[in-house]
Amino acid sequence: PRRILSGIQASGALHLGNYLGALKRFTALQDQGAPCFLFVADLHAITVWQDPAVLTAQTREIAAAYIASGLDPAKSTIFPQSAVRAHSELAWILNCVARLGWLDRMTQFKEKSGKHKERASVGLYTYPVLQAADILLYKATEVPVGEDQKQHLELTRDIAAKFNTDFNAPGFFPPPEPLIQGPATRVMSLRDGAAKMSKSDPSDQSRINLTDDADTIAAKIRKSKTDMGVMPDPGESLDDRPEVRNLIAIYAALSDTTRDAVTAQFAGQGFGAFKPALADLAVAALAPVTAEMRRLMEDPAEIDRVLRDGAERATAIADPVVDEVKRIVGFWRG
Ligand code: TYM
Repeated sequence: PRRILSGIQASGALHLGNYLGALKRFTALQDQGAPCFLFVADLHAITVWQDPAVLTAQTREIAAAYIASGLDPAKSTIFPQSAVRAHSELAWILNCVARLGWLDRMTQFKEKSGKHKERASVGLYTYPVLQAADILLYKATEVPVGEDQKQHLELTRDIAAKFNTDFNAPGFFPPPEPLIQGPATRVMSLRDGAAKMSKSDPSDQSRINLTDDADTIAAKIRKSKTDMGVMPDPGESLDDRPEVRNLIAIYAALSDTTRDAVTAQFAGQGFGAFKPALADLAVAALAPVTAEMRRLMEDPAEIDRVLRDGAERATAIADPVVDEVKRIVGFWRG
């Protein structure tokens, strides 16, 4: 049976990349009838310093985004990672399965630790092992994520395979399938087609936040970087027009169509025609999500109820798995 799992870090504001690469796709999977487990990755968030009060607020905000983007708490299990103790417990055990050499290859650590890696937290280094624990704990079959998580998913599969062989438990952890699909698996900055849209970009103009109002969204798209050309013809290579390619991908993802269909529709037109159409589309898609997030954030009691209930349901699945892992590893059980 299918089991979908994914998480979003409780750090920084959500942006259009998170929405198109992750949130919108979770909803599509839920609506296909697949059981979905979606959590707020607060354990991952603290691998870099988080103000405690802000962390709590961010956790509720991500939960609100899950609900506002169309996830139904009656169908999908939405919970804070730290509220299910088994995540931390399995992560430790998997820390002893994963090899230093594997983690040394992780590009995200290299990017996030910057020039002074001796000052990075140990947690930041072992972050992908916690992610493997998140996934394997539920024996997830599919993990919908953006392109930037590909390497972490490959590591998860390696850890699963090594656990199964090390402990002679063939098939115990099934290899999860990464779902990196659709036109917007890597949404780029609006200012630089070579940089990923990200919460850590210092320029707010580089991204559309889920909390931006309609005017802000329209202005950011109007001012987004393009080039001297016009909209491409179908089949034209966009390899040296990354900004244009990005806007087309965003349009395609927002309107549930393909890049080719968008290109066919706008071929030969100027950006003066395309950008307002894109802005209208983005506002129409995001405004209801933003409004619902605002409404939910006004009364945290509803969000807290969802998170408590989700944590309980997740624990009921995770605890027996971690118990079984402890038995396999040979831990004493009285
Ligand atoms: P995070 O919080 O950075 O991002 C959440 C989701 O959004 C996707 N994403 C993007 N997709 C397209 N274009 C972009 N510019 C873009 N930026 C972000 C991410 O790929 C992700 O799907 N390590 C994870 C959280 C996590 C997790 C997990 C995910 C923890 N445990 C287990 C899956 C399974 C992260 O930091 O995502």
